Amino acid sequence: VEFARTFYTDTTRSMALAEQAKRVAAEFEFDKDHVQKAVKEFLREMDEGLQKEGTELSQIPTYVTAVPNGTEKGLYMAVDLGGTNFRVCSIQLHGNTTFSLTQSKVAIPRELMVAQTSKELFSFLAKQIENFLKQHHEEHYSSTIKRRETGGQVKEEEIFNLGFTFSFPVQQIGINKGLLMRWTKGFDIADAIGKDVCALLQAEIDELHLPVRVAALVNDTVGTLMARSYTSPGKTGTLLGAIFGTGTNGAYVEKLDKVTKLTQSKDGGIYDKSTGEMIVNTEWGSFDNSLRTLPNTPYDIELDEKSVNPGIQMFEKRVSGMFLGEILRLALVGLLKDPKVPLFRDENSADNDVHSTTQIHQDSPLYKQWGIDTSFLSICAGDTSAGWRMLRQTLDKDYGISAVSAEDAEAVREIAAAVGRRAARLSAVAIAAIVITSGRLDTASSTSGEVSEDDVIDIGVDGSLVEFYPGFEDHVRQALREVEEIGEQGEKRVRIGIAKDGSGVGAALIALVAGSVLEETGQ
Ligand code: GLC
Repeated sequence: VEFARTFYTDTTRSMALAEQAKRVAAEFEFDKDHVQKAVKEFLREMDEGLQKEGTELSQIPTYVTAVPNGTEKGLYMAVDLGGTNFRVCSIQLHGNTTFSLTQSKVAIPRELMVAQTSKELFSFLAKQIENFLKQHHEEHYSSTIKRRETGGQVKEEEIFNLGFTFSFPVQQIGINKGLLMRWTKGFDIADAIGKDVCALLQAEIDELHLPVRVAALVNDTVGTLMARSYTSPGKTGTLLGAIFGTGTNGAYVEKLDKVTKLTQSKDGGIYDKSTGEMIVNTEWGSFDNSLRTLPNTPYDIELDEKSVNPGIQMFEKRVSGMFLGEILRLALVGLLKDPKVPLFRDENSADNDVHSTTQIHQDSPLYKQWGIDTSFLSICAGDTSAGWRMLRQTLDKDYGISAVSAEDAEAVREIAAAVGRRAARLSAVAIAAIVITSGRLDTASSTSGEVSEDDVIDIGVDGSLVEFYPGFEDHVRQALREVEEIGEQGEKRVRIGIAKDGSGVGAALIALVAGSVLEETGQ
């Protein structure tokens, strides 16, 4: 009798739970029609952004007018202030599509992300550059520093040209000049807004007498695009560099005459017009801030309201690593608030025949804002073990939720997968629009099923999400095929490759070009 009762209750319980999980997962559906509409809106916003300022897609001209071809050479420095870490590196470009890279990485202390003054952050960055030089270029460092400190001159050839990868929206006004438009990804230092971030960094570098010149200001997406072009120079050149990491964004090669807000402006700055192209930083994290086509679940709404920048970066808040864990957390907490939903309320989550009751520790990160890391979504998507053992272990170890039953794990998994899938399908919207806009789909040299090298549309990507979320690219590709203008044929032509360390190498490549221009103009 006892057995029958338990069995009956458990079955009802799992059915109710499965139904609830399905209901929540369905809230994250972003079907073919949604994708198509969003692509259309993306194309409209891209156009608008090329013509005027203050639009949702910022479409920032980068002053970079060519992509490398793999023959570039020399020793450069690069620093990367992206989201979570600050990286300093020196890069030796060998000129044969290869490079060697020495780097150091520190986590950016949380308090510096929201410091009172920008000086606190930038002097910290300069200090890291000094440490790096001492550690990896000791001879160079000590000989130049001594001379400088005693009032001597440092020779031009002794100065490192540095590419500054600064991955926030910046109104670029020259290759090494740009005014910060707004912070993203949790940074918030009021006095930096409107300032030239290169000058802020250079001032701190000079205070330490370092032989370093900030030669180029680079968004990480631009760096990724450059790095991809250097390491795998195709016949047509890479079209797009995209980041799917803590934040998300893309930079692509645009025809110069379409960038009318630059070409038709009187004070457009100096840039090389000969290639007829310019790389444009879309800042697609702010695509459709007014939510014409983006999905908007109660979880998206709550996440936005409680963020440091409500109403902006609305696309990013649905796509990137900083936010996906939080969306999942809000969805799970929503279920737990309803006493009728049996999630994590199993009193008989028998494991190895040991009778046990699911317990949520009172300090569980499940109850704290940002408590669930996006890597948890990757674990959910990657767990193929019987009864979702890995997932349950993670819930126990990292989230203080013990003795979770397989049914509960299954429910969590289903919702997590829906959040991840939606993010990937949204990512496809941005990729699709840029592929369409490039016109590269209109030409095809080969009519047979095989994609010839000439027809490849190359995309360089980087970031924790593309790198570690299982099946991310598959979901992107599925959605690309659903876009009318792309279809199966077009999707096959899209080549997506990871550009590891893209922002470092890319920044070095831009510093290379910029350095010679700065020397010529005596800056
Ligand atoms: C945010 C930044 C953008 C950057 C992206 C990826 O969206 O605004 O500049 O490229 O994150 O790091």
